[in-house]
Amino acid sequence: MCGITGFIGAGQALPFLMQGLAKLEYRGYDSAGITLVDEHGLYTCKTKGRLSELEALLRDVRCPQNCGIGHTRWATHGVPSQLNSHPHSNMKNTISLVHNGIIENYAVLKQELLAKGYQFTSETDTEIVVHLLDEHYYRDRLPMFEALLKTVHQLQGSFALCIVCTDEPDRIYVAKKESPMVLGRCESGTMCASDAPALLEYTKEILPLNDGEAAILKADSLEVYDFEGNPVPENWISFPYDVQSAQKGGYDSFMMKEIHEQPSVIRETLRGRFRGEMIYMQEIDRLHLDERDIRRIYYVACGTAYHACIYAVTQLSRYARCAVNAMPASEFRYGSPYLDEHTLCVFVSQSGETADTIAALKLAKSHHAVTTAVVNVLGSSMTRLADAVLYTCAGPEISVASTKAYTTQLVLLACLNVELADVMDWEMPGRREMIRDLQILPEAVEEVMGYESTMEQLSKLLKDQRDAYFIGRQLDYPSALEGALKLKEVSYVHADAYYAGELKHGPIALIEKDSVVVAMATQPEVAAKTVSNIEETIARGAQVILITTKDMPAEKFEHVLRLPNLCPDLAPITGAVLLQMFAYFTAELKGCDIDKPRNLAKSVTVE
Ligand code: F6R
Repeated sequence: MCGITGFIGAGQALPFLMQGLAKLEYRGYDSAGITLVDEHGLYTCKTKGRLSELEALLRDVRCPQNCGIGHTRWATHGVPSQLNSHPHSNMKNTISLVHNGIIENYAVLKQELLAKGYQFTSETDTEIVVHLLDEHYYRDRLPMFEALLKTVHQLQGSFALCIVCTDEPDRIYVAKKESPMVLGRCESGTMCASDAPALLEYTKEILPLNDGEAAILKADSLEVYDFEGNPVPENWISFPYDVQSAQKGGYDSFMMKEIHEQPSVIRETLRGRFRGEMIYMQEIDRLHLDERDIRRIYYVACGTAYHACIYAVTQLSRYARCAVNAMPASEFRYGSPYLDEHTLCVFVSQSGETADTIAALKLAKSHHAVTTAVVNVLGSSMTRLADAVLYTCAGPEISVASTKAYTTQLVLLACLNVELADVMDWEMPGRREMIRDLQILPEAVEEVMGYESTMEQLSKLLKDQRDAYFIGRQLDYPSALEGALKLKEVSYVHADAYYAGELKHGPIALIEKDSVVVAMATQPEVAAKTVSNIEETIARGAQVILITTKDMPAEKFEHVLRLPNLCPDLAPITGAVLLQMFAYFTAELKGCDIDKPRNLAKSVTVE
């Protein structure tokens, strides 16, 4: 996720670009840059770091230009650095562009461009786009808009692009596919951005571009076309939010916004991962796992990411032909785990900066174990330490309570487990169904969003309760752990998670009239057993919320939520969304500061 802005008008472009980028910093903040254009040429200024660093660089620079583009980056290809920052320019420094999205076929296009003599200065997927434009504009002699249309037809993946060119300093070219882009105009000029908050100080009349549309922005007009060059009707909307709520996408908090982003970030995480019936994970090819005689695998992390590890291990231990363990990093680092060159360690982290997980990774490396990091933040410490890195593409997670990072971790770990089965030649039951259903997972996650008002109602069960109990068996157990953690951290309701079969060995002593029990029963081989366990709690007066599948007989229970039909291994992903909403609405009911729970920080960089 990145944020982009563009302005062409009567006054200076820079003030619009900078205020817009500030409103879009929630989309990314590892580097920032602008290009201004006039008859004298391009002026580009960009830097690694937050927007304030770009502001500092521009403080004493005179910037009278009326046309420009801006970018705030959240790295996906190439670590955060000055060279990888946007805008990117062609070799003549006459065309400059900013990009949000991922160009899937950039490696192939880059080879072709290198063969034609183009030189690259960054590691980004974006730079190929500016060279393609250069090729079509200068070598094919197409007008710039036609060069853009030709270019977008060559790109696979997602993109929102803003382009300026010294030959036409009076216009900005824009194109969109699967990454957001909105246009606006007011008396002082015409503008575009990744999201409406960037425009709202100037106008509340917004034109969201559709996929497959391109536009030409001039100081006093704009024109919209499809990718074939045909004009398309403009559907302007009047934007109802103020700037602050618009940054949260109209939601009351970043947590709810991030819950709702899950279908799209899961789609991004899976992008390019399917090759027919195979999972494509070339990042781990370099580990040569098939030649290493791997004898044990550890999944290591903290907090929510550790629950993702328990999910991965529960899944993998069903078919792995070696020892498989999940461990909290804080225990792993002091517990003398058996580590050698036949050990594979997978470290999972949203931030890539958690102190205990970094220490565990260093320990594994010092014993010559093979290390892989599953991380969200590109270029973070763990990505520099591990032998191989897999990225969850969740975008920046602002809410302290992790939601979209967790579900993208589950998705990527499920893919990694399939890949491990293939590489190690282990027979994986349900492999074909898993690959099939991963491809429809974003839609299934979208479907469970429909339970939002039900979860809001159910959260009222906790209104006068101090405790809640989460139970599940097999792959439902990490869901129970995560549901309990989420509830604790945002609503401060005490919550515990148990294996459903363990309830009768002690915890059931706590169950009394109106105790709230959340039961996950999505795994066909054990769901009926979990259902009998909840009957035991109902007999003692508990109020039970049952999260199960469409075909589980459960008519006699009062609060039943049924997940979409997917292979059972993926039910914890759709189920997690319901548990996140349950925690969210309980916290709202109790008046808690949802995005910033007490005593917690987003990244725990101390032991
Ligand atoms: C809970 C939460 C934490 C983190 C944990 C690890 O919602 O966010 O439990 O999961 O602190 O952080 P990362 O994933 O950044 O290593």
